[in-house]
Amino acid sequence: MATGQAAGTREQVSIDSLVIRKCQNLDEMRACVALQKEVWNFSDLELVPLRMFVVAEKVGGQVIGAFAGNEMVGFALSIPGARGGRSYLHSHMLAVRKQYRNAGLGRRIKLLQRDDAIARGFELIEWTFDPLEIKNAYLNIEKLGTIARRYTVNQYGITTSPLQGSLPTDRLVAEWWLKSKRVEKLTRSGTNPGFIPLQSIQVPAQIYGWKSDPRTRQRAKEVQDRNRSEFLTAFASGLCILGYERDPRGNGKFLLGKWDENWLYKA
Ligand SMILES: CC(C)(COP(=O)(O)OP(=O)(O)OC[C@H]1O[C@@H](n2cnc3c(N)ncnc32)[C@H](O)[C@@H]1OP(=O)(O)O)[C@@H](O)C(=O)NCCC(=O)NCCS
Repeated sequence: MATGQAAGTREQVSIDSLVIRKCQNLDEMRACVALQKEVWNFSDLELVPLRMFVVAEKVGGQVIGAFAGNEMVGFALSIPGARGGRSYLHSHMLAVRKQYRNAGLGRRIKLLQRDDAIARGFELIEWTFDPLEIKNAYLNIEKLGTIARRYTVNQYGITTSPLQGSLPTDRLVAEWWLKSKRVEKLTRSGTNPGFIPLQSIQVPAQIYGWKSDPRTRQRAKEVQDRNRSEFLTAFASGLCILGYERDPRGNGKFLLGKWDENWLYKA
């Protein structure tokens, strides 16, 4: 049985009986907005409003919810994008209520996003993530099989979310090539295709504490500055993030190598 554990408590919540599906009405989309507020604690001005969820669904994006009975415990929001004449989906938000985390629900929501996208002819879903968030990086790269080779400096400016700790909102762009050998292999067997790591970029486990406390925030900023410069240099030289390692103390490490275009195609 898959269970999640609430931070700071011993409460266990099963995710086996949850229903994950597209949202079907305004009330369910309102529940997404409320969960967004709970998870990020943005000011009202920075919340993605109900209207945007409605528009996303109407123009070919995705509003997906995870439900425990009538209660929404997770959601994902994506919008369609276009680049070079090809359509893709940009996944803007993924959230899971605290008590339901670390039991595989985030991954399951993403897999439904993938199934729905493939059924509608998309080959790519992209999203951005904070390179200082060790858990998200691990989920995106190791559990879902995204790659990253683009970096944006301070994408949204400084936000009101405590998750961000008043740091610049630097972001990596995750590319999820839905039908690639890499992603197919990972979703089928749980293993990533091998590659030769040519560089690594470290994120210390203490980063969460440093970000959340104004007295230590400068240390988090120093890690961000150092890693930003390493990412920009590595990407400019043609390297790509292909792997992520965690050690027993919770430190994270991006592994970079050469992206092989052949991985985009099925065997
Ligand atoms: C990101 C989020 C949606 C993930 O949801 P989730 O249901 O906990 O995700 P999953 O359980 O599918 O996967 C998380 C993985 O990270 C692992 N993990 C947990 N804490 C970790 C940490 N500190 N460092 C590294 N990995 C960690 C989990 O063990 C799990 O891996 P496993 O299946 O091998 O055990 C959820 O944490 C969340 O809502 N966070 C706040 C909002 C956010 O940051 N959203 C993403 C950006 S838009």
